[in-house]
Amino acid sequence: MEFGADPRTLAEVVRLARAATDRPLFVKLSPTLPDIVASARAAADAGADALTLVNTLPGLLVDVERRRPVLGFGSGGVSGAALLPVGVLATWKVTRAVDLPVMGVGGVSSASDALQYLLAGATLVGMGTAAMRDPRLPERLVHELAAWCGRHGVTSLADVVGTLEWPA
Ligand SMILES: Cc1cc2nc3c(=O)[nH]c(=O)nc-3n(C[C@H](O)[C@H](O)[C@H](O)COP(=O)(O)O)c2cc1C
Repeated sequence: MEFGADPRTLAEVVRLARAATDRPLFVKLSPTLPDIVASARAAADAGADALTLVNTLPGLLVDVERRRPVLGFGSGGVSGAALLPVGVLATWKVTRAVDLPVMGVGGVSSASDALQYLLAGATLVGMGTAAMRDPRLPERLVHELAAWCGRHGVTSLADVVGTLEWPA
């Protein structure tokens, strides 16, 4: 079973981490968890300060010229654009059910991507793959976010958090 997939094991790990530090404790969850809301609740009850959603998806990429795997140690973690809708949905489901701040991460490479996480309920947004490819991207994204706020009459991004309108 994947590490932390059982909410009771996850709670035990978080309790031990909580006892070991007074620093902010972010618990990062996998998008493959059978019930990500239950796991988020278990982490909250065990003392997490915040959640990070999501980690990579397991995948296999094949170099067809060499007939060998490309990622990690055979199979590996898939990051980037493919993760965006997965992470945004996890953020939406968890922030509606659990009263902890969420950092949305997975597939963000534009202000529009970051806004999807914010609208779904994240209060922080992280960037991995896209920022490794272009280290100046986060800085540009902040300017793009300011431009979006200007166009939409938004004075604080905090006002955007969780304001996704779900179809009736
Ligand atoms: C090269 C690389 C190394 C990573 N190492 C870790 C790690 O050590 N711990 C972790 O929780 N996530 C790790 N991740 C996952 C990222 O933190 C992030 O959750 C994931 O890549 C999705 O975001 P992205 O699409 O913006 O890259 C790693 C991702 C990449 C691409």
